[in-house]
Amino acid sequence: MPALVLLGAQWGDEGKGKATDLLGGSVDYVVRYQGGNNAGHTVVVGDQKYALHLLPSGILSPGCTPVIGNGVVVDPSVLFSELNGLNERGVDTSKLLISGNAHIITPYNVTVDKVTERFLGKRKIGTTGRGIGPTYADKINRVGIRVQDLYDESILTQKVEAALDGKNQLLTKVFNRRAIETGQVVEELLTYAEKLRPYVADTVLVLNKALDDDKVVLFEGGQGTLLDIDHGTYPFVTSSNPTAGGACTGAGVGPTKINRVIGILKAYTTRVGAGPFPTELFDEDGEALRRIGHERGVTTGRDRRCGWFDAVIARYATRVNGLTDFFLTKLDVLTGWEEIPVCVAYEIDGRRVEELPYSQSDFHHAKPVYETLPGWSEDITKAKTFADLPKNAQAYVKALEDMSGAPISAIGVGPGRTETIEINSFLR
Ligand code: GDP
Ligand code: IMO
Ligand code: MG
Repeated sequence: MPALVLLGAQWGDEGKGKATDLLGGSVDYVVRYQGGNNAGHTVVVGDQKYALHLLPSGILSPGCTPVIGNGVVVDPSVLFSELNGLNERGVDTSKLLISGNAHIITPYNVTVDKVTERFLGKRKIGTTGRGIGPTYADKINRVGIRVQDLYDESILTQKVEAALDGKNQLLTKVFNRRAIETGQVVEELLTYAEKLRPYVADTVLVLNKALDDDKVVLFEGGQGTLLDIDHGTYPFVTSSNPTAGGACTGAGVGPTKINRVIGILKAYTTRVGAGPFPTELFDEDGEALRRIGHERGVTTGRDRRCGWFDAVIARYATRVNGLTDFFLTKLDVLTGWEEIPVCVAYEIDGRRVEELPYSQSDFHHAKPVYETLPGWSEDITKAKTFADLPKNAQAYVKALEDMSGAPISAIGVGPGRTETIEINSFLR
């Protein structure tokens, strides 16, 4: 049972960090394959809480080798501050491997992200401001800087010069900012070269050899299906492919190697930043979900937009990712509601629509069609088996499973490592 992909089935923040950490003890490698430090993954181990942004959540499991794949964008300053923070708390990070082909988020990419958002005004995406989009844009435009470029000063200088050429025109003439000097950027980037060297590896080779040797490899997605650049709610998306196929390109493994694709699914829905969100609540229920679920961004500290569970989205996630399992998280947050509405379909211009519309205009007009399920009031945080859950909570889970198109194999009933009900083993 060697290769698993674990990814967000909604708009991110589903609890991927906790799910990865839970499996960390039984896997040999945990690999980030896309995104960068726009992610914020929370892991709670005992009374210790960790917030990871760039590092794979498996870094907290001693036997596991964490890998940053070629598809990730790496901000070296963030990387080292995250590593130092973990080292200070006694976490051994020496096994980390970073692909030499991963792209580097340079200071000018961060500047361009912030300036672009400011100029978009009310049409802004609400990015995390970490330089993610501009770094991927440079990659696609073939003016990106890769980790391996840090080891040849002359090539690095030429590449930074090429990347800055057009950008400085824009910065000075359109955005009214000062030009950025090549020399200064190169100097800063070179300060990371030797510190990075022990981690840099041909991660594609390492991972494929590991798979040949029957090692267990877990690919950990950042963000979520609806934030995917191809399959998400474009343009209100991130600039990479969190969906399952991204694991193949972002880590360099073939699709035939992947055995299981696990979608992390929150028992309700949240979203950060701009963009459509059919089940969004603007009332006390939305406020209560935010308060009880502690729905505040790990990366930017922004309040998350909250709403009821949307089965149309879950079905879509099953389809575009080929999900084999769901991990349903935060069921405990719903304790105390007398009734819980679940969106089963949309109404778009008077028509009932069962599947996510491909047209952006339709999706912007989609109104949720709700079915209401009975709630429960018993504390479920100590539940260890499905049978321990109150009947109405069991029925809620079963209903979500029937609507979503893949088995719910685990249920989160609290943020801690042990607050999980396992139904089917992911390593089966
Ligand atoms: P990620 O980005 O997908 O890793 O998710 P985040 O860490 O951004 O947000 C999920 C939040 O929910 C974190 O604060 C987790 O500690 C917390 N969490 C995860 N699973 C559960 C659960 O089953 N119940 C509760 N109450 N909290 C959970
Ligand atoms: P994790 O891994 C939730 C959102 C931003 C914005 C859009 C584009 O913790 O689930 P970007 O900076 O990526 O260009 O921003 O994507 N976004 C996330 N929302 N969770 C995340 O990561 C996110 N990473 C980016 O809020 O709307
Ligand atoms: Mg998060």
